[in-house]
Amino acid sequence: MIVDERMTAYINSLDPGNRGVLDEIEREAKEAYVPVIRREMQSFLKFLLGVGKPRRILEVGTAVGFSAILMCRYAPEDCTVTTIEKYEKRIPIARENFRRAGMEERITLLEGDAMEVLQGLEGPYDFIFMDAAKGQYIYYLPELLRLLAPGGILVSDNVLQDGDVIESRFAVERRNRTIHARMREYLYQVTHCPELRTSVLPLGDGVTVSVRVEATAGDGVDVRRGAPADEGQEEKGADGHEKTS
Ligand SMILES: C[S@@+](CC[C@H](N)C(=O)[O-])C[C@H]1O[C@@H](n2cnc3c(N)ncnc32)[C@H](O)[C@@H]1O
Repeated sequence: MIVDERMTAYINSLDPGNRGVLDEIEREAKEAYVPVIRREMQSFLKFLLGVGKPRRILEVGTAVGFSAILMCRYAPEDCTVTTIEKYEKRIPIARENFRRAGMEERITLLEGDAMEVLQGLEGPYDFIFMDAAKGQYIYYLPELLRLLAPGGILVSDNVLQDGDVIESRFAVERRNRTIHARMREYLYQVTHCPELRTSVLPLGDGVTVSVRVEATAGDGVDVRRGAPADEGQEEKGADGHEKTS
């Protein structure tokens, strides 16, 4: 936890929840050890959607569709969501959940590896939520910039990695060192890219929220373009399950 546990519990106790099918899907996902966004991330997304009122949303990392449904519900009624997932076992569950929520017409699930799917997409999207393999964020960034509309918002979850990002790489478990290095690079790039204004927030497991702006002659650095994507590994907790989002 990067935020005091009691404080998080208190803040989350103020959240009125989602009720109905969303609460059911969240409960089922947790029972099956499927990661879903935390309560504090849910309320942050609801807030951002209320302010930004996006018409086209892109999500990287569907799992069983909880966050896609939440975004669809709290965005304007004519908003559509495109979401990407590669894990075959989760795809039919996500589709069934979209049907249960009555949102199968508004949510499009694209199956496959995010990098390949992103490369085939055409923007612009007003709102992009990135919640997939953390070690890949740095490679997705050029594609996300290509797809993000001027004034559009990019939200990336789990960027502080349970606090690991501020540790020396030698203090991080060996198997997490690649992700650690890539996430630090991602954080640097997303905060120094001239086309983005970014705030890094210690919310949940760490979030960046960026808005796309006109490029200015500031002192930011260009994001790397065309860097190769590789292993796309899933992050596992000590118990072997994926870490909760
Ligand atoms: C943290 S979960 C997403 C949770 C979901 N956003 C929610 O809150 O309901 C991350 C998902 O990204 C998927 N994923 C990871 N790497 C991927 C990749 N390279 N391409 C597509 N999906 C990927 C995983 O299979 C997993 O289901």
